[in-house]
Amino acid sequence: MSTALTGLILGIESSCDETAAAVVRRGTEVLSNVVASQIATHSPYGGVVPELASREHLRNIVPVVRAALSEANTTLADLDAIAVTNGPGLAGALLVGISYAKTLAYALGKPLIAVNHLEGHIHAVLLEQAQRVVRSEVEPLPLPALALVVSGGHTHLYIVRRQGDTWTYRNVGHTVDDAAGEAFDKVAKLLGLGYPGGPWIDALAPHGNPTAVPFSFSQVKIKAHRKADGVTANPVATLFSFSGIKTAVLRYTQIQEMASSIEARRIDLSANPTVNGALALCDQQTLDLIASFQRAVVDDLRRKTFRAAKALGAASLLVSGGVAANRELRLRFTAEAADCGLSIAFPRPALATDNAAMIAAAAWSKLPAGDIAPLTLSANPSLVLGKGSEQPAKPL
Ligand code: KG4
Ligand code: ZN
Repeated sequence: MSTALTGLILGIESSCDETAAAVVRRGTEVLSNVVASQIATHSPYGGVVPELASREHLRNIVPVVRAALSEANTTLADLDAIAVTNGPGLAGALLVGISYAKTLAYALGKPLIAVNHLEGHIHAVLLEQAQRVVRSEVEPLPLPALALVVSGGHTHLYIVRRQGDTWTYRNVGHTVDDAAGEAFDKVAKLLGLGYPGGPWIDALAPHGNPTAVPFSFSQVKIKAHRKADGVTANPVATLFSFSGIKTAVLRYTQIQEMASSIEARRIDLSANPTVNGALALCDQQTLDLIASFQRAVVDDLRRKTFRAAKALGAASLLVSGGVAANRELRLRFTAEAADCGLSIAFPRPALATDNAAMIAAAAWSKLPAGDIAPLTLSANPSLVLGKGSEQPAKPL
């Protein structure tokens, strides 16, 4: 490794349907953040097609990395390290970014740093917070923080701590079935809206009545394993479940006989996919259904997250992942945080969804710690972040 550090890390992210590269200085200053979206490729299928995702990553990886270096006004020689997402995600998609990052690291003789995608999402918030602290706009986020990572693939809660330069994560909650973003995507699809569904529902929900359709979330329970001495060995985590609400929306459309209007909307929107077009194609009953669905999901996330924060003694909250771009979620989480006197932080929307700046930022503290990946690094589609469940003060 070069002794004269420039502080520059190139991040590469290809875990799902965005090919992304970014150059970040000292884990805080984003010099470039380039994302090639594959929405147009996957839209006709209403979801990510893994084989098509890999093919698009192959097509995009070289130009995206070149653009990131050029926008940052830097060269490969200036970099301290190459960071890459090694999981979780789609195996074939991850392998494109990993193979390219390994090749660069080997050819340049630079360290390779492996980053968990979920750790990246958490650092999307930490990186912006660090910038704002430097500008004296905010105090550092008090720790431990409770992080809600809420995206198309995950609805996870972590307790985040810092020991010196090292960040640690403990998983304290997860979904037992669909992720929240997946529910947004599936509900949008079954209502004949575009892909990915979250931004469509976000844009249409303000036009409907969020209390029109009463959705309820049942409590998800897991059996705690009792040891012989009666002590709970498997502590109770916060559990989410979003497959039921998707089925409830489907049932509602069947009972209300909405199939033909949904089909008409699907056909019209595939030719002209705009929010204004969608608004004109939705009757009030559909808008009320959309608003009620969004309110139910946001409220379930909010209730369980704040209950966990209280039970675990979190000093602050951070919310990240694609669904953290949702405007109602931001408003309702911010209001409740103010009520309970908790600091809360979100990334700006461009850093909430998948990007590589968050990967480069998460890698920064791993460099001095010597947390360098071998050139045999491979994809781990089900990589977990941190340790298992932390015992809350009382069952959640
Ligand atoms: O973090 P992300 O880009 O990729 C994953 O790691 O999954 O998240 C994508 C997810 C999709 O399910 C998308 O519908 C959702 O985030 N999403 C939103 C919004 N923007 C993106 N969900 C609700 N409201 C939004 N504004
Ligand atoms: Zn993500």
